[in-house]
Amino acid sequence: MKTSLTEMFGIEAPIFAFSHCRDVVVAASKAGGFGVLGAAWTTPEHLDQELRWIEQHIDGMPFGVDLVFSPTAVDLGPEKDPVKLLPPEHVAYINGLMTRDGVPELPPGEFESCYRNYSESLAFTPKESEELLDVALRYDIKFVVSALGIPPAGIIERVHQAGLPVGALVGTAEQARKQVAAGIDVIIAQGSEAGGHTGTVGSMVLWPEVVDAVAPVPVLAAGGIGRGRQMAAALALGAQGVWCGSIWLGTTEEAS
Ligand SMILES: Cc1cc2nc3c(=O)[nH]c(=O)nc-3n(C[C@H](O)[C@H](O)[C@H](O)COP(=O)(O)O)c2cc1C
Repeated sequence: MKTSLTEMFGIEAPIFAFSHCRDVVVAASKAGGFGVLGAAWTTPEHLDQELRWIEQHIDGMPFGVDLVFSPTAVDLGPEKDPVKLLPPEHVAYINGLMTRDGVPELPPGEFESCYRNYSESLAFTPKESEELLDVALRYDIKFVVSALGIPPAGIIERVHQAGLPVGALVGTAEQARKQVAAGIDVIIAQGSEAGGHTGTVGSMVLWPEVVDAVAPVPVLAAGGIGRGRQMAAALALGAQGVWCGSIWLGTTEEAS
């Protein structure tokens, strides 16, 4: 199968596997697709270990890294309490969703400890993202993907200077246009069927809209793809390949 993305990445099939699991990344690339390691929840030391392991096991096949480059995330010094910094309207929004869906409230005190643990394990601030990118660029990666929002211009420039394309996830055609204007090379159009964070536009509507909005920039279709028939639909709608996440959560590890 040949599309502009199989050509761009030198792969056999335009199937991109997003996963936080290094084994999935290796297996997908060795099978002729393209594995992308989700690394937004990691430390530079851990990412270094994971990428070293991937390079040792992937037999020279291409792979990539997915990070969050948030221009708005702030560094929390030890004196700053993330719970106090949480905007009240965000708390109200989340509480509203939980009430709507019948999710019971956490026992007293647990919200604070959950939120502290959660915010400490995120690696979303500009400084943290850049540290992770530094590590990633030491390895033979072939693709850097921005999980949320438009990466800062300096980041796009650094990745381009390293000779690599930058991808970005979007949930609307408008976001796709803005990403392309910022210099993004591959758009990942993620419909609301997707696992993880996502927008409200369904894949069947979103994919062709994004394809038309950014042509000739290649588009990977994401959101609800688990079988060849859905992949065929994505290609028929103009995507140059597919980007899957949930399907890999059910994979089993084979003893080698
Ligand atoms: C458990 C889970 C965690 C995810 N975390 C991220 C992430 O950290 N960064 C990112 O770019 N996308 C993330 N995604 C979204 C995937 O990149 C992908 O767009 C999505 O899974 C595609 O839809 P599908 O789940 O229907 O295959 C996540 C998806 C899942 C299922």
